Amino acid sequence: MSALIELSGIVKTLKGQDQPRTILGGVDLRVEPGESVAIVGRSGSGKSTLLSVLGIFDRPDSGTYLLSGRDISRVPERRAARLRSAEFGFVFQRFFLLKHLTAAQNVAMALVNGQGWLPRRERRARVLAALDRVGIAHLAKNRPTKLSGGEQQRVAIARALVREPRVLLADEPTGALDAETGTLVIEALHDATNRGCGLVLVTHDRDHAARMGRILDLADGVLTERVPV
Ligand SMILES: Nc1ncnc2c1ncn2[C@@H]1O[C@H](COP(=O)(O)OP(=O)(O)OP(=O)(O)O)[C@@H](O)[C@H]1O
Ligand SMILES: [Mg+2]
Repeated sequence: MSALIELSGIVKTLKGQDQPRTILGGVDLRVEPGESVAIVGRSGSGKSTLLSVLGIFDRPDSGTYLLSGRDISRVPERRAARLRSAEFGFVFQRFFLLKHLTAAQNVAMALVNGQGWLPRRERRARVLAALDRVGIAHLAKNRPTKLSGGEQQRVAIARALVREPRVLLADEPTGALDAETGTLVIEALHDATNRGCGLVLVTHDRDHAARMGRILDLADGVLTERVPV
């Protein structure tokens, strides 16, 4: 069976101020359904660049990217946008919630963009189920200003999960949170893998990385598996 994600020899060069810099110099990565992977590495090592290739915001200069066995290395933007909304959920350090909407309405926004309008009752059920999965169904009617940072991030995770993505990509999702709140957020992300969702988490936090199935180090443009000690 094909892997959920299979990157082989991914090269990405970015135009620097003086000369182009190779940020990813032959990255290999395999992620199976339901698997969680932490990507660690020093600031500037290319972790966010790698996530933007994984999320098809960016295309590799060379190498191949197979998503569930389909080669999407060089898909045009229209198809990339469709794949992004159908197959991926994204969580960032900043929550990007709309302040004038409730938690439930923020989550529902993800259903509007991807699939047109679902019948109201089904939309409601899906939104509440997603909020429930991250433990905050009781806060559905609160606006972001009435929520803590950790609660806001869990709304953002519910928004990422509501379309049942195959892959969840998270870039420093606990960067703006204290340690205890961060742990709740990591648990919420990790729970998504119970349903077969693949999770790629970029983090500086060793404890959070250790909760993932594997830890991969990005250094000098390549990923290496960190052997557990
Ligand atoms: N659009 C761009 N054009 C040119 N260089 C860029 C661009 N985006 C990022 N870079 C450079 O590419 C390198 C990798 O950046 P990236 O954001 O992927 O690192 P990172 O590992 O996510 O760092 P951090 O841990 O600080 O978030 C950095 O040296 C950065 O300055
Ligand atoms: Mg980054």
